[in-house]
Amino acid sequence: MRLIWLLASFVVLASAGTLKDPPRQRYDNFSVYKINIKNKLQLSLITKVCELNKMYDIWKEYDEYSKEVHVMVNPDEVKHFQLLLKLYGISNELLIPNVQKLIDDEQFASARDSGTFGWTRYHELAEIEAWLDGIFEAHPTVTEEFTVGYSYQGRRIRGIKISHGTNKPGIFIESNIHAREWITSASATWFINELLTSQQPEVRNLAESYDWHIVPVFNVDGFEYSHRK
Ligand SMILES: *[C@@H]1O[C@H](CO)[C@@H](O)[C@H](O)[C@H]1NC(C)=O
Repeated sequence: MRLIWLLASFVVLASAGTLKDPPRQRYDNFSVYKINIKNKLQLSLITKVCELNKMYDIWKEYDEYSKEVHVMVNPDEVKHFQLLLKLYGISNELLIPNVQKLIDDEQFASARDSGTFGWTRYHELAEIEAWLDGIFEAHPTVTEEFTVGYSYQGRRIRGIKISHGTNKPGIFIESNIHAREWITSASATWFINELLTSQQPEVRNLAESYDWHIVPVFNVDGFEYSHRK
């Protein structure tokens, strides 16, 4: 549901022509509840309510194993929500009292080690690209830049080839196809760094036996958007 909403937002933004830097959405006092689903009625009730009302956003869909749904609730709606849960006897637990606080904490951590690239926090596209530029500069003989193409919003989709010779089998890795899965570009950049700098024999062997083609951020527009929204 969130994905559809995200796509819809793209279309609206695109027609408004204000794409580059949408202001960051705030989530002050937005809370996240864990709902324990006991039966089909409760499940269809929660699903329908979240589908119809924009004040709700499902963070975790129901599955047979956990029997849980996690829902983010707009503070303007939270009283209604609690009433609904009470009325239908749905057991629940407050997981996150204030989503904005988590975002602030993460941004505080970012500010603390800003200016350095590492794997203790998530980086935005510009930082990843600057890091990539540094990598090309530091390892000119074994790296080569390539361009996959240009995104809908005109951003270049960049890749790195790491090769220690010709005629090696190629391996292709692309990350952040799903824009909000930030851990994937963090993993890819970490992996690039390992391939280039690790002295472990197993890693050296891997690095030098293949031609690596790695795209750390494939969905550049969505990635940028996910850092703002
Ligand atoms: C969030 O809730 C607190 C406590 O109820 C309140 O003081 C604060 O004004 C609220 N913040 C916003 C932005 O609504």
